[in-house]
Amino acid sequence: MRLGEALSIGDIERLAKRRLPRVVYEGIASGVEDERGLVRNETEFHRHRLVPRAFADVTEREQTASLFGQTYASPFGISPTGIAGIFRRDAELMLARAASEARVPFVMSGASMVSIERVAQIDPANTWFQLYAARDAKISDDFLRRARDTGLGALVLTVDNPVSPKRERDVRNGFRLPPKLAPLDMLEALLHLPWVIDYLRHGGMPIMETWAPYAAPGAGAAEVARFFRTQSPSIQTWRDLDGFRRSWPGKLVVKGIMRPSDAVRCAEHGVDGIVISNHGGKALDRAPAPIEILPHIKAAVGERLAVMLDSGVRRGSDIVVARCLGADFVFIGRATLYGVAATGLAGASRVLDILREEIDTTLGLIGCPRFDALGPDFILNRAAEPTVSPAPPDRQSRLVERI
Ligand SMILES: Cc1cc2nc3c(=O)[nH]c(=O)nc-3n(C[C@H](O)[C@H](O)[C@H](O)COP(=O)(O)O)c2cc1C
Repeated sequence: MRLGEALSIGDIERLAKRRLPRVVYEGIASGVEDERGLVRNETEFHRHRLVPRAFADVTEREQTASLFGQTYASPFGISPTGIAGIFRRDAELMLARAASEARVPFVMSGASMVSIERVAQIDPANTWFQLYAARDAKISDDFLRRARDTGLGALVLTVDNPVSPKRERDVRNGFRLPPKLAPLDMLEALLHLPWVIDYLRHGGMPIMETWAPYAAPGAGAAEVARFFRTQSPSIQTWRDLDGFRRSWPGKLVVKGIMRPSDAVRCAEHGVDGIVISNHGGKALDRAPAPIEILPHIKAAVGERLAVMLDSGVRRGSDIVVARCLGADFVFIGRATLYGVAATGLAGASRVLDILREEIDTTLGLIGCPRFDALGPDFILNRAAEPTVSPAPPDRQSRLVERI
């Protein structure tokens, strides 16, 4: 299959799987512990049915979405995915460009291989910076300064990893920084020569440029990665959030909120938006799927802040379902990572196109020409199913006679 033949995110994932060594592909695909949360994220989307409305004029369909004073071409953006440079050299630059061309936001990871300054050259206002707060607060302050100086559009503080999650598949695979592959896996990697050449041509593991200025002068890729591990994960409190709110003048988003009471508290602390997220099943295996918790959070916060969501989105119809249940905006993590890993910029762009087209088709099929007009009435409400009343007694007896 070639990129042009890829019809779905599943097809793009297969292309990425073909290009990447098994261990590297699984670094994207894996979750934590028994990986039930990973599965739950997708199955919970599928629990919802969209009920089409007949005779609607859907000749013109509109999926633009407004967020933080910007109008985006589609109601979704790209979630931060760290160490993307392992999957393809300079993947972060390609993701930033694909998002800019598609006019959707790109969140650059605080664990990027490419520096803030280089990513910001592409489309700073369209790029948000995701912060993994460092144990040394001075480093976090400096990240904020760099994001401000380069004109990045928003700050996203990720809070769902206060301690390291138990990523058993990665441990078994030796997928870490730098990767440590078993001899058989090294042989398997040789079946994926284009990736191996791309990786080795630039001297092996790319350096985490974002973190390099804080490591020892002249530190190589492995030392910078080790330094990153001494600073992250870090434990943050509501007081730290207040500190970030004071020092960041722009839009502030907290990513990884799962409780309605925390969402309300975020609003009280001056946060502009939250991303309901379980890190795509890579943090707490027993966390609910974000789509399960979304209606509860929306009911608690209403319009006080922007309610966004990621984890498990693989179809445009997932994004439609999320909107019906109250999301203002949706993000995707693995999908675009698979795209960029498979074929670079073209692959990432293809993923954005597929999702845009699927949203468009879904809007047409359910009889709702505007994405922003979607609501819970498009979702099959099983709780409200009418109970079928039994036939009146005289009819019952006639039925029995006939039988
Ligand atoms: C390989 C990989 C790396 C990730 N790195 C980060 C990161 O650096 N920062 C962060 O906040 N989330 C990170 N995430 C989580 C994503 O931002 C997002 O929450 C998740 O991928 C959404 O689920 P999905 O992959 O099912 O779309 C990462 C996810 C993956 C798969």
